[in-house]
Amino acid sequence: MKVVKTTDLDQREDAYSVRTTVFVGEQNVPPALEIDELENEAVHFILYNEEQKPCGAGRFRTVGEFGKVERICVLQEARGRGAGNLIMEAIEQHAQTVDGVTTLKLDAQLHAIPFYEKRGYTVVSGEFLDAGILHKTMTKPL
Ligand SMILES: CC(C)(COP(=O)(O)OP(=O)(O)OC[C@H]1O[C@@H](n2cnc3c(N)ncnc32)[C@H](O)[C@@H]1OP(=O)(O)O)[C@@H](O)C(=O)NCCC(=O)NCCS
Repeated sequence: MKVVKTTDLDQREDAYSVRTTVFVGEQNVPPALEIDELENEAVHFILYNEEQKPCGAGRFRTVGEFGKVERICVLQEARGRGAGNLIMEAIEQHAQTVDGVTTLKLDAQLHAIPFYEKRGYTVVSGEFLDAGILHKTMTKPL
């Protein structure tokens, strides 16, 4: 498995296809909320399996001192084998190269909190709804 970092419009389609399968298909997020107006300012990460099939994705945006980690997802059949960790590792490595970013920040669905805690993120908010799904904000110093 290999993670590719890109801003290329064509390659972004691979990220959108995984995100649509997971967030729209599996979690009922409205398509217009899933692919949003922030895509052009984001750096996109796509995980490809051995057959070059896209099976995971995530995106990164710089917001002041924060590196925002968003849209982390892995196709159902590829979960539980370190794919999510590979995407997070690639994003965190990229964050290290961005001037001025001191803290990683993400909004975690409640079920995913242990996944992020294992990577050193800490819950810093109460519960809130985003796209109809309960989340908590988490941060990690770079
Ligand atoms: C969350 C998600 C990205 C994790 O991907 P994954 O490929 O299954 O994760 P990994 O296999 O890399 O897991 C890394 C570690 O986190 C743990 N982990 C992963 N998901 C977990 C969960 N839901 N609860 C507890 N631990 C979890 C794994 O056991 C593993 O632990 P280890 O390092 O001790 O073995 C994946 O479940 C997913 O895409 N879910 C649907 C989309 C989603 O909800 N994304 C999060 C949006 S905030």
